[in-house]
Amino acid sequence: MSPPASPLPDNRFNVSLSSGGITNSTASVIVLANTALAGCLPPTIGDMADTLVELVLLNTSISSCIPPEIGKLKKLKVLDLSHNEFAGELPDAIGDMESLEVINVGYNMLSGAVPESVCLLPNLKNLTLVGNYFCDEPVSCLHIPRRDDRMNCIPDWPHQRSHEQCVAFDHRPPVHCATDGCILPPPKRL
Ligand SMILES: *[C@@H]1O[C@H](CO)[C@@H](O)[C@H](O)[C@H]1NC(C)=O
Ligand SMILES: *[C@@H]1O[C@H](CO)[C@@H](O)[C@H](O)[C@H]1NC(C)=O
Ligand SMILES: *[C@@H]1O[C@H](CO)[C@@H](O)[C@H](O)[C@H]1NC(C)=O
Ligand SMILES: *[C@@H]1O[C@H](CO)[C@@H](O)[C@H](O)[C@H]1NC(C)=O
Repeated sequence: MSPPASPLPDNRFNVSLSSGGITNSTASVIVLANTALAGCLPPTIGDMADTLVELVLLNTSISSCIPPEIGKLKKLKVLDLSHNEFAGELPDAIGDMESLEVINVGYNMLSGAVPESVCLLPNLKNLTLVGNYFCDEPVSCLHIPRRDDRMNCIPDWPHQRSHEQCVAFDHRPPVHCATDGCILPPPKRL
């Protein structure tokens, strides 16, 4: 008897990711698109390491950090977190996800440098970074066959955001990630 599997695109799936409802699943494919999930991506996503091959959380109103535990998903081939409000940096641990072929983190609020480990993933064919605030991309990324790094804040690089946009972003309070994967609110000024 196999568990009821996703995909469940374009539905009214109302579940808090953080409650453990999704991460306890033994599905090999999770596809949630255009639905108001909200919530955070919990570190327990790593508990799906034995089964998960595809994780698509596209346009689901998730506002979250990307927990480093995601690096445990060594069978994952497709990671699509696009069109959400993921913030903070891409964890180095994504470089441990040796099966990854497609990464799409486009249209989020991610910043910092793209870790070199990500660009050295042996099977990576398609890396979509468009529409974030990344400020650096290692040269090794240039070898990835399909790559979209437009609309970021990479200095002296074509098709980036305006200087004003990048400076305004830099003046925001830094993102702090909680242990549950959620973004902590900025500390109140005294
Ligand atoms: C989802 O469920 C919560 C309560 O569990 C409710 O407050 C919220 O309105 C629901 N959202 C949608 C889109 O149904
Ligand atoms: C997830 O699984 C664990 C262990 O199998 C169990 O203790 C926990 O209650 C489950 N959580 C949910 C939300 O089903
Ligand atoms: C995101 O989903 C909403 C519905 O929840 C839809 O109205 C909107 O067009 C979608 N945006 C994108 C970029 O697909
Ligand atoms: C690469 O990924 C992007 C975003 O998921 C997609 O739009 C594009 O079609 C992909 N390109 C190829 C060649 O698969």
